[in-house]
Amino acid sequence: MAVFDIVHYGDPILRKKCGSFTDFSRIEKLKVDLFDSMYEAEGIGLAANQIGLDLNLFIVDISNLEDGDEPHVFINSEIVKKHGEKGIYQEGCLSLPGISLDILRPEKVVLKYQSEDEEWHEEEFDGLLGRAIQHEMDHLKGVFIVDRVSEVERIQYNTELKELEKNSKKRLKSQSNKMGFVL
Ligand code: NI
Repeated sequence: MAVFDIVHYGDPILRKKCGSFTDFSRIEKLKVDLFDSMYEAEGIGLAANQIGLDLNLFIVDISNLEDGDEPHVFINSEIVKKHGEKGIYQEGCLSLPGISLDILRPEKVVLKYQSEDEEWHEEEFDGLLGRAIQHEMDHLKGVFIVDRVSEVERIQYNTELKELEKNSKKRLKSQSNKMGFVL
């Protein structure tokens, strides 16, 4: 078991469009790491770049909130279509601790993705799962919930955002200092 630190706002990896996942021999271990890290942080969804990995890979587990739902792994995902009525729902984010915002999103999403066995699927999702998928897909494209609200709403969190940015920079700096001693 490996629990990774969640990368916060201000780290450039969260602004990147994540690359394809190709080495499926790594999926079993990666999946366990992602789930362990997400459960430790008490989240219901996690994208690979939130633990510092530049990979099109995310997980969702809403089984605590919706009976019968199981943990999901989505690989090399692409949104084919978003449709249905738009609704507002309050979303938080593990990379933006202390911030939650009312986010407007379409009710349904059609997702093309690979499962762990490399099979391709095209499936429609709605409800909480559909919303979680849209949130995680935003992460893989470098988009945060703070980008999805108006300037007026975002401004309320200016102090928090600046603080997160400062801490991420500090963390990156101490990491690169450490790496300087790796021979
Ligand atoms: Ni998030």
